[in-house]
Amino acid sequence: MSNDRNLEVKRDVPGEYGAPILGSVLDRLDRFYGKNFFEKRRDEYGSTVFRVNMPPGPPFFPDSKVIALLDQKSFPVLFDLTKVSKKNVFTGTYVPSTGFTGGYRVLSYLGQEEPKHAQLKSYCMDILSSNHDRWIPELRAAAAAGYAEWDAELNKPKKSGGLLGGIVSGLLPDDPPELNPVLGKIALRFLTKTVLDKDATDGNALTETGIKLWLAPQIAPVLNAGLPAVIQEPLLHTAPIPFIIVAPEYQKIVRFFKANGERAVSLAVPHGIDPDEALHNLVFFICFNTFGGLTILWPALFKNVSDFDEFDLQAELREEVRRAVGRGGVDAAALGAMPLLQSTVYEVLRIEPPVQSQYGKAKVDFVLETHVEAFKIKAGEMLYGYQPLVTRDPVVFEEPEKFKPRRFMGEEGQRLLEHVFWSNGPETSSPSVDNKQCPGKNFVVLVTRILFADFFLHYDSFKLGDASISGTSSVYPFTELKKRA
Ligand code: HEM
Repeated sequence: MSNDRNLEVKRDVPGEYGAPILGSVLDRLDRFYGKNFFEKRRDEYGSTVFRVNMPPGPPFFPDSKVIALLDQKSFPVLFDLTKVSKKNVFTGTYVPSTGFTGGYRVLSYLGQEEPKHAQLKSYCMDILSSNHDRWIPELRAAAAAGYAEWDAELNKPKKSGGLLGGIVSGLLPDDPPELNPVLGKIALRFLTKTVLDKDATDGNALTETGIKLWLAPQIAPVLNAGLPAVIQEPLLHTAPIPFIIVAPEYQKIVRFFKANGERAVSLAVPHGIDPDEALHNLVFFICFNTFGGLTILWPALFKNVSDFDEFDLQAELREEVRRAVGRGGVDAAALGAMPLLQSTVYEVLRIEPPVQSQYGKAKVDFVLETHVEAFKIKAGEMLYGYQPLVTRDPVVFEEPEKFKPRRFMGEEGQRLLEHVFWSNGPETSSPSVDNKQCPGKNFVVLVTRILFADFFLHYDSFKLGDASISGTSSVYPFTELKKRA
């Protein structure tokens, strides 16, 4: 892929923004209700870089004009902070009201050039590292409680097969257990138990629904909730949803974090951060960044593995896990002996990056290269990377549309990791106070590997049915769940 000679600029970035407002609205409707939004423009312009409007757009949101980047050569410019600014682009071309975050601009919205970025990012990294010996036991304890819920469902009598039949044969009761509500609880439980020393799922002090009620309006302008256009457009995409509507939900979350977060908030003091600002950032790290991310990634992992049918992936995974664990626990050494499981997690992060969109505003004029041509970008232009196509770039990945669990195994596979960008940086780079890469990068991969390994210690196999939409998430029912024989 590498191309050391500079390409010549032969044309302007193709694409049209259309008439003011109208162009933005038409592109928005096409993005949410049309098919192959990016692919058809790419094919029409013969380019993986082109101009287009991204939702939400005027009149009630800022300028929607962006330059889309769809290939592995151009996309990484978004990591080059000498060329782009990442200030106020976390959710896209608009910024949600700071009412949602206690009146503060939390870390995710700060450019790395802002002094507070380094302070808050160090604090965030301290939250992760200061709890390093607690994450794994708390995750496994939370997972055990989750299995108990699934097992209780499995034990319910079913019409045919009798009690226990479901467990032994893998057939399920009439009302089968569901994957996500339980995965959400596992996440919420281990995160709050570790960081706040208090289980937020206890007595439903906090719930996935409550957290998502606060979270959803912040991303509503770019969210496709699967509703008909006549409902979704006026409700979600035309004007910002006022914070006041979900204020009680947020206050509930903040109260819980304040009551139990003394240890976590005190970690901010050495970084010179005001405790109240630390508290609201902490809520955002745990509830938005982490909980929001994991409740997308974990179901995607289970679904991709469930749907895979080229070889008996689940048999290979469970054998690998059980061999590696032996008589010991799921520790670092055991995880190191699970290359297939690790590769499977990376492949999910490649094929379904949980955060699809990344933005950055050009700070200077520069020349941007795709694999085959070059374009002039002007300071002030908004760049937009659509990651699901970038990580399916056929120049880099063989059979890019295919979920290939073994893709990242071996030396060749390891080399491909530099092209996996889910964390807003290559998988081979590290987050720091000088970049905008996700500080949870290693943590996310680690806890996902642990959860999945632990799952195969308890269950032999599973199968998921089609998703039904519940609020902002898809809920998958198990059509098969076999406990370990
Ligand atoms: C940034 C994804 C978990 C904290 C980001 C960005 C992405 C991302 C794509 C860059 C956004 C942008 O500016 O373009 C994810 C996903 C996660 C996850 C998919 C889980 C599956 C976490 C965790 C933490 C975290 C566990 C910390 C507790 C942050 C913060 C930023 C960030 C603070 C802003 C970084 C900075 O300002 O330098 N994350 N993240 N995230 N993430 Fe994560």
